Amino acid sequence: MEEQARHLRELFSAHRNASERRAKSFTVTSGKGGVGKSNLALNLSLAFAELGRKVFLVDADVHLANLDVLLGIKPNQTLRDFVLGECPLEEVILQGPMGINLVPASSGVTELLMAEDRTWARLGEALTAIEEEADVVVVDTAAGLSRGVLDMALSTDDVVIVTTPEPTAVVDAYAMVKVVSSQRGEVPIHLVINRVRSQSEAEEVFGKLNQVIRHFLGLKVMFSGFVLEDSSVSKAVAEQRPFLLAYPDSKASSCVRRMARRLSGMPEERRGSWIRRLFILRSKGGIEL
Ligand SMILES: Nc1ncnc2c1ncn2[C@@H]1O[C@H](COP(=O)(O)OP(=O)(O)OP(=O)(O)O)[C@@H](O)[C@H]1O
Ligand SMILES: [Mg+2]
Repeated sequence: MEEQARHLRELFSAHRNASERRAKSFTVTSGKGGVGKSNLALNLSLAFAELGRKVFLVDADVHLANLDVLLGIKPNQTLRDFVLGECPLEEVILQGPMGINLVPASSGVTELLMAEDRTWARLGEALTAIEEEADVVVVDTAAGLSRGVLDMALSTDDVVIVTTPEPTAVVDAYAMVKVVSSQRGEVPIHLVINRVRSQSEAEEVFGKLNQVIRHFLGLKVMFSGFVLEDSSVSKAVAEQRPFLLAYPDSKASSCVRRMARRLSGMPEERRGSWIRRLFILRSKGGIEL
């Protein structure tokens, strides 16, 4: 453990100056699966790019590599190959539409974080380079309360928890808020309500959830937007094109654009390096679940 801590210090002191300019980072997650995280992460990234931001979209869903499928591209390499010394970092990062950078990290990035020091240092090198280049980092995760997802959520600046109006999804979103906030009290949590029929339905779902969160957890969470139920989303998924590009005038696209403006208009509070925090969590052996 001491050895790991020493590596970490060396790794990060080398990057200290360069990492002055840090990206704003978001983890997109949910309690329940299938609520629209990957579509939101991808299209939100594109909407940030439209606003002139340099975006890195990290696919950290260890179970299903979704983003490349949504984009209709196939990565030859993932972060794992870089970490194992099999290719340079440039070969891992894919150029997506609108200049977004897709980081296919899916195959076992969390396992890599558990690995030995040398592997760790190389992963840290890659992720730190990404963080230094980016204005915005969006991390798409799997649903549910796994340690990998939580470590991401505890490391990025903000956490975006997606739910639909379905009671099961709402209950699971509450559980996610509870666990994340119990580990990191001051965390800025955004709730996004997906697949609603109207703005008022989204406000109603948020209102109820917010009330329970305030009452039982004493927390303030933000209502950061909603996405209307829109057949353009599933059509775009079938076409393997992001809906923001395939159907730019759709209801879903205007909802996501509005959300991107809202999220990027927030006070630019930084907590320091996302990667640094992720590694510190790892050096402590992760969190207890
Ligand atoms: N606003 C929407 N309107 C209509 N359909 C939607 C909307 N959002 C998502 N969907 C549908 O839900 C499906 C699942 O979306 P997505 O893959 O983004 O969910 P996910 O939360 O990432 O799932 P997983 O937990 O498996 O990673 C999409 O393929 C699409 O058909
Ligand atoms: Mg997904």
